[in-house]
Amino acid sequence: MKADEKRQVNMEQNSRIYVAGHRGLAGSAIRRGLEQRGYSNLILRTHSELDLADRKAVHSFFMEEKPEYVFLAAAKVGGILANDTYPADFIRENLEIQTSVIDASYRCGVKRLLFLGSSCIYPKLAPQPIKEEYLLTGPLEPTNRAYALAKIAGIETCWSYNRQYGTRYLAAMPTNLYGPGDNFDLQGSHVLPALIRKVVEAKLAGERKLMVWGTGTPRREFLYSDDLADACIHLLNLPEPIYDSLLTRDEAPLINIGTGEDLTIRELAELVSKVLEYQCELIFDTSRQDGTPRKLLDVSRINALGWRAKTSLAEGIRRTYESVRPQLEPAPQ
Ligand SMILES: NC(=O)c1ccc[n+]([C@@H]2O[C@H](COP(=O)([O-])OP(=O)(O)OC[C@H]3O[C@@H](n4cnc5c(N)ncnc54)[C@H](OP(=O)(O)O)[C@@H]3O)[C@@H](O)[C@H]2O)c1
Repeated sequence: MKADEKRQVNMEQNSRIYVAGHRGLAGSAIRRGLEQRGYSNLILRTHSELDLADRKAVHSFFMEEKPEYVFLAAAKVGGILANDTYPADFIRENLEIQTSVIDASYRCGVKRLLFLGSSCIYPKLAPQPIKEEYLLTGPLEPTNRAYALAKIAGIETCWSYNRQYGTRYLAAMPTNLYGPGDNFDLQGSHVLPALIRKVVEAKLAGERKLMVWGTGTPRREFLYSDDLADACIHLLNLPEPIYDSLLTRDEAPLINIGTGEDLTIRELAELVSKVLEYQCELIFDTSRQDGTPRKLLDVSRINALGWRAKTSLAEGIRRTYESVRPQLEPAPQ
């Protein structure tokens, strides 16, 4: 490809780039990643400045700001309990946010948009590792079905706008994320931040036993948030012919993002205590649900596009711990 051709299609340093949800786990990493790469014209709004579920307000905002590229990382996100208790809120708010942003992007001529979904869109009992083509091939996990269906509708919305209006929108499905800015509240947090917090608390209390939910045998995959950001920026910067090859009429414009490697919850708990340098005996609370035995994304599609995760799990845990250490560990007097 000629240099000029490349310049025309990739994000320029001064391109107008909107990161929706820039204060969340994924969105803050995307913002950081863009700033580190010298992108200087980011458009950012907090939830209180712009409610993305308000279609009129979103439309006016897009007409005023005229973004050229959009990372859609804003969503109503929660753990199993929240999803199970408030399914109506999860489906309504996510449908509203994504429909407003995707439609406004079309109406003001956004060049490329990346919609973030989640691996929960795939059938509960999908073969492993999970390929993009397994979408809609079986029943979903019931506890977050409303959320998953909203995300599936988001993929279909991108695909439908591409087919009907010639837009060029992609949907990325990340595996479990972790990183700075994660939720460390034990009631609502995911397994990895919860383990970091539990090990810190055990260390402070001098407690040598660590309670882990479930049997410790389910296998899970974890992606560091800065690696997700790197993948998202890589996708929106793909050269034109490669980007075009992802936008076909026959296949959803869907790309898994993960490390391609998983480990058991027991191995994860051992790794967290090793990185935090506090060895404890693991006790498994088998009265707690294990969930799906294995959830690993097939990442051959994104690997073939020239992207691979770079941060080892141990390094990602260390950086996440360092980012939250001042809040979790009181400074010595
Ligand atoms: N975390 C994971 O493990 C994971 C895994 C796979 C995929 N993802 C996907 O990545 C995306 C982002 O997830 P995340 O973990 O970064 O979530 P998060 O930390 O909860 O961030 C979501 C962001 O969206 C904003 N937001 C929510 N509703 C809004 C509204 N009506 N108007 C404007 N802003 C609104 C939130 O602002 P407020 O906090 O101010 O409401 C927050 O900044 C989601 O699509 C999720 O499915 C996440």
